Amino acid sequence: MRLALFGHGGMGSLVEARAKDAGHHIAVVFTDRDAARPPEEIARALEGADVAVDFSVGAAVADHVTACVKAGVPLVEGTTGWQAQFAELRGVVERGKGAVVYGANFSIGVNLFYRVVAVAAAQYAHDSSYAPFVEEAHHARKKDAPSGTALKLRDIVSGANAGRAVPVASTRAGHIPGTHRVGFDGPADQIMLTHTARSREGFAAGALLAAQWIAGGRRSGVFEFAEVLDDILASAGGAAR
Ligand SMILES: NC(=O)c1ccc[n+]([C@@H]2O[C@H](COP(=O)([O-])OP(=O)(O)OC[C@H]3O[C@@H](n4cnc5c(N)ncnc54)[C@H](OP(=O)(O)O)[C@@H]3O)[C@@H](O)[C@H]2O)c1
Repeated sequence: MRLALFGHGGMGSLVEARAKDAGHHIAVVFTDRDAARPPEEIARALEGADVAVDFSVGAAVADHVTACVKAGVPLVEGTTGWQAQFAELRGVVERGKGAVVYGANFSIGVNLFYRVVAVAAAQYAHDSSYAPFVEEAHHARKKDAPSGTALKLRDIVSGANAGRAVPVASTRAGHIPGTHRVGFDGPADQIMLTHTARSREGFAAGALLAAQWIAGGRRSGVFEFAEVLDDILASAGGAAR
C-alpha cells in the first residue's frame, strides 16, 4: 500500500516504522506545519495514496476528513477528541461517498475488552445495587480527557443498564501506559475489569489492519474499528464467535 500519514508524533512515527517493516510505502506525511493549508491543497497532495492514516490532534480532524473525501482516499482516523463533530463529519463522508474507519482505540485487545465489558455489564445490570463506573489513566502528554476509549466503555455499560449514568474518572500523570478499568461496586463486594496497554504497538498494528481493510476503494461509508475487527476475525475463520 501507498500510505499518507497525518501526524508524525508518537503514533504517526510508529505507524510509519511498522508500515515500512511490512513492505508498504509512505507516500506523504503531513504535520502541524501543514495545518494552515486548505483541504483542497491537502487533497491534491494526497493523490496517489491508497489510504491515509491520521494520528494528529482533534482540531485538525475535520480538515483531514474533508481532504480525504475530496481526494477519494480512504482514511483510518485514529485521532481522539473530535466526538462533538462526529455527526457533521459522518455527513461529509456520506455525501462525498468517502470511506473512513475510526476508533478511539485500535488495539485488538481493547476491542475484545469491549465485548467482555458488555457481557459483564449485562450480568450486573440484573442487580441494581451494583453501581458501574469507569476509570482511566494515561501519561501527562495525552491531551483529551476522558479518553475516547473510556467514553466508549461508558456507553457500553450505560447501554446495558437502560441508560443509567455511569461516572468516568481520568488521571493524567507521568508516563502511565493507557489503563482502563470498569468496576461494579455493590454493598458487599466490588468487581474490577482492567485493560493495561504495555506499548503503542497494538494501536499501530490495528491501524494498519484497518488500512488494509479499507484501502482500494471497494468500501464507502463510516465504520467503527470494532465492526471492522468483527468482519476481519469472521473472515479469518470465525475466531470472533
Ligand atoms: N485510536 C488509537 O488507538 C489511538 C492510540 C494512541 C493515540 N491516539 C490518539 O492519536 C492522537 C495522536 O497521538 P500521539 O500520541 O501520536 O500524539 P503526539 O505524539 O502528540 O503526535 C501528534 C502529532 O500530530 C501533529 N499535528 C498537530 N497538528 C497537526 C495538523 N494540523 N496536521 C497534521 N499533524 C498535526 C503534531 O505535531 P506537533 O507535535 O509539531 O504539534 C504531532 O506530531 C491523539 O489524539 C491520541 O489520543 C489514538
